[in-house]
Amino acid sequence: MSKRVAIFISGGGSNMLALVRSMTGDHPARPCLVLSNDPEAGGLARAAELGIPTVAVDHRPFGGDRAAFEAALAPHLAAARPDIIALAGFMRVLTAGFVKRFEGRMLNIHPSLLPKYPRLHTHARALAAGDTEAGCSVHVVTPELDDGPILGQARVPILPGDTPETLAARVLKQEHILYPAVLRRFAAGDRRPVLLPG
Ligand code: GAR
Repeated sequence: MSKRVAIFISGGGSNMLALVRSMTGDHPARPCLVLSNDPEAGGLARAAELGIPTVAVDHRPFGGDRAAFEAALAPHLAAARPDIIALAGFMRVLTAGFVKRFEGRMLNIHPSLLPKYPRLHTHARALAAGDTEAGCSVHVVTPELDDGPILGQARVPILPGDTPETLAARVLKQEHILYPAVLRRFAAGDRRPVLLPG
């Protein structure tokens, strides 16, 4: 039986699309839901065009009440019955309670070579530090932000003249290769990390 994957997004959803497009043929998983905290997220329409069920739960009416926002997600998740949740540019911090409900079954992609540069502005921080390489990581989500066991990393060079934007674009290309590769392994029960040279 295929594993069911819910993908959480907040924006354009290019990683979501890479994941969805990968889940065909002998892939051990299939998408069951694309969920966004932003009703305007461009990825929602792109997922719907591909026939994936979509839902938007706007976080803003909940103010800072993360648990109440997550309670509003619950019926959608109960209906979709995901085995795996893939965070793909999902820009809300989840509570420890939510993370524990999906312990060991929730993945995230982060645009840095973790443990370097958790949280935001990863590319600007790598440039400011004078790093010569950057990259992206896929990890298991744990209650601590951007901190769980690493399931894969891809590296790219930092080139003279790079800006946060040019570096982000180079890393994003690798994200689209890394995340599908990790999801395929993970869904098959293989936790060995995927290491891509870039
Ligand atoms: C990606 O670069 C992803 O790694 C990053 O947001 C972008 C989403 O792009 N995620 C984070 O920064 C999470 N902290 P996408 O919507 O085109 O996939």
